Amino acid sequence: MASYDVIVIGSGPGGYVAAIRCAQLGLRTACVEGRDTLGGTCLNIGCIPSKALLHATHMLHEAEHNFAAMGLKGKTPTVDWKQMLSYKDEVIGQNTKGIEFLFKKNKIDWLKGWGSIPSAGKVAVGDDTHEAKHIIVATGSVPSGLPGIEIDEKTVITSTGALELGKIPKKLVVIGAGVIGLELGSVYARLGAEVQVIEYLETITPGMDGEVQKTFQKLLTKQGLSFTLGAAVQGVEVTRGKATVTYRARKDDSEHTLEADTVLVATGRKPYTDGLGLADLGVEMTDRGQIRTDAHWQTNVKGIYAIGDAVTGPMLAHKAEDEGMATAEVIAGKAGHVNYGVIPAVIYTHPEVASVGKTEEELKKDGHAYKVGKFSFMGNGRAKANFAADGFVKIIADKNTDRILGAHIIGPMAGDLIHELCVAMEFGAAAQDVALTCHAHPTYSEAVREAALACGDGAIHM
Ligand code: NAI
Repeated sequence: MASYDVIVIGSGPGGYVAAIRCAQLGLRTACVEGRDTLGGTCLNIGCIPSKALLHATHMLHEAEHNFAAMGLKGKTPTVDWKQMLSYKDEVIGQNTKGIEFLFKKNKIDWLKGWGSIPSAGKVAVGDDTHEAKHIIVATGSVPSGLPGIEIDEKTVITSTGALELGKIPKKLVVIGAGVIGLELGSVYARLGAEVQVIEYLETITPGMDGEVQKTFQKLLTKQGLSFTLGAAVQGVEVTRGKATVTYRARKDDSEHTLEADTVLVATGRKPYTDGLGLADLGVEMTDRGQIRTDAHWQTNVKGIYAIGDAVTGPMLAHKAEDEGMATAEVIAGKAGHVNYGVIPAVIYTHPEVASVGKTEEELKKDGHAYKVGKFSFMGNGRAKANFAADGFVKIIADKNTDRILGAHIIGPMAGDLIHELCVAMEFGAAAQDVALTCHAHPTYSEAVREAALACGDGAIHM
């Protein structure tokens, strides 16, 4: 048994970042993790491995579609799926070992095993019980699935199975046109699978800017994904390794079936808090199964904090990281803070999709007067040279004050470009502040400046 200032339960982006910041602030810290490697869903079966597959298959797409036009002729690469999966595993290994190194460097003890909280101030791991003045629960989330659909991770899979399929399916049905469905759907479409996405709502990527949704769907359709919208999946039946998906069209309640080799269920995730003993401790939960916290991430039980996917808010690694840092600072007596109004969201397809702040739809609903500055990547020289001119940057600013309220980008490197606007928003910048900032030529970033110029007297290259 050991005694700590802080024990963090879970080593995903929320947990490991919280642990590192606690240690940096002079707190004796341990982190409980039951997986064989650190890093949680993000590093092991989420963000990082999916990005490896997205990168590899994007390279293939470039070779197949754009190389010849650039004068790069010759043999187009063929897919060695086994090698692609080992490349992905190699990337996972480098990243998870990186966290292990950071733990050692910061003198954080890794308590190996699954943790529970027998009482406030105590964390049990295997046969040991440790003392902790503060406990941070960062246990993340798991796929929520659909009632009546059995996941076997072979024919009917979640994102976890999609990262280690035995072979590339001929026909993949994706249930849910959210982030996971579209990222992994893109991967398999590029690998030659016929990909059909079934979505309950009338649009893809619920909650995103409407114009982005439409452009995004068009571009993905061009890449070979097909969409059935307004369709509620009822069930999936598997016979001899083949799946039959049944769905109801919401407009007329008609029933339809689809055959597939593989079905990816990507209908959201739910908080994972099993086995922690929270109910016995009297920790309050929301009706969606999230741990309820106050503005400083403390639960109703003193000394127990919770962050990341296990609490309310978007299920995003970087949101969890921010909460991890802020909670560590609160525990250390500093002013930890997260600005939930400026949390970017990114979809790592090609082109990428990124957004921050308000959408036009939200502002209309709030009756907030706004203006829009938009710039197409067609007017960006660098994007044209790189076969990446699809998409646009859209900046939404207050009609009267010019203050940036939101930004939505679909286009090359959108996930990186968005941060200029995040910083601008953190500083309460006006669109004109971005427009007056010199941007290097030729860069994709010029499209951001042009959109800011379009909020004022007009973009130059339009
Ligand atoms: P999601 O919430 O993004 O999308 C789920 C979709 O499934 C929704 O569009 C929903 O309307 C649809 N759906 C639900 N029930 C259905 C039914 N019966 N029939 C047809 N469609 C149905 O969830 P997703 O993609 O599973 O992702 C889970 C979480 O992980 C999200 O919070 C996401 O933000 C996060 N994530 C983030 C990534 C990123 O930041 N790039 C990457 C992967 C996941």
